[in-house]
Amino acid sequence: MTDVLSTVLQEQLHKRYGAQAPVAGGVANPTLELLLRHRTVRRFLPGEISESELAVIVAAAQSASTSANFQFTSVVVVDDPALRARLAELAGGQQLINDAAVFLVWLADWSRNIELARANGHTIEATEYLDSALSSVIDVTLSAQNAATAAESLGYGITFVGALRNKIDAVIEALGLPEHTFPVYGLAIGIPDPADPADIKPRYGQSVVVHRNTYTPPAAEDLADYLDRINTYYREQELPEDWVKNRLAGRISTKESLHGRQGIRNTFNRQGFPLK
Ligand SMILES: Cc1cc2nc3c(=O)[nH]c(=O)nc-3n(C[C@H](O)[C@H](O)[C@H](O)COP(=O)(O)O)c2cc1C
Repeated sequence: MTDVLSTVLQEQLHKRYGAQAPVAGGVANPTLELLLRHRTVRRFLPGEISESELAVIVAAAQSASTSANFQFTSVVVVDDPALRARLAELAGGQQLINDAAVFLVWLADWSRNIELARANGHTIEATEYLDSALSSVIDVTLSAQNAATAAESLGYGITFVGALRNKIDAVIEALGLPEHTFPVYGLAIGIPDPADPADIKPRYGQSVVVHRNTYTPPAAEDLADYLDRINTYYREQELPEDWVKNRLAGRISTKESLHGRQGIRNTFNRQGFPLK
């Protein structure tokens, strides 16, 4: 069993890192295999998720570490097809939002803690600062990733949907979100269509991202190695290659690449986060 797992894990490492993949050296267990197997699934077959599965996925989300035990995460379970269609439209026409077994919108939520503090006669001055908003978004991200991994462990495929922030004010209205909440992203959970060609996607080599004690800028050849691997991946997926041009530059070259998210500070402010 362990030998089989070790072999699988080493194959996964090879898909992530190519020829310079680290050697797992027998370090293997089902949790690691699940984590390394992750791939975003964007095509779903029809099907539903059971309430028990959903409850356990949410429990996994709530089990993540949480800043000061503040538990900033709230989640809107969107099972109304009309609302799904509206969110899909707001997120740039992503059909996977309609097709998923369930669509979850993850919220950074200060509202209940602010209410508790106020109800007990306390001021809430610290919540007006950027770090407070940031803490809540960090919390959400830890929970949502736990939920994603839990869903994958049950055989579902997942897609995070950041494009939900493209038209964030309309999303806030559609979901009836109160002051001191902020939608961070959606998470589609569905039954993977075996025809979805997406595979384990290459990542930067560890020599690029790991620093010992002090930061070391990446070597040009290590960046080139990544570009070579990611471009090969896109070619094999029959998608436009040239990651720097088509993906990186396409997302950062101009403010228009933010697809409407340029004004998000205003939305934070309107939702009661001054971001001082
Ligand atoms: C916060 C966040 C938002 C994302 N938003 C979208 C999205 O709106 N649509 C989409 O198709 N994929 C989205 N993704 C998926 C990424 O494109 C994907 O994770 C990345 O390309 C790496 O691929 P992999 O997850 O298959 O390894 C998002 C991922 C994250 C973490």
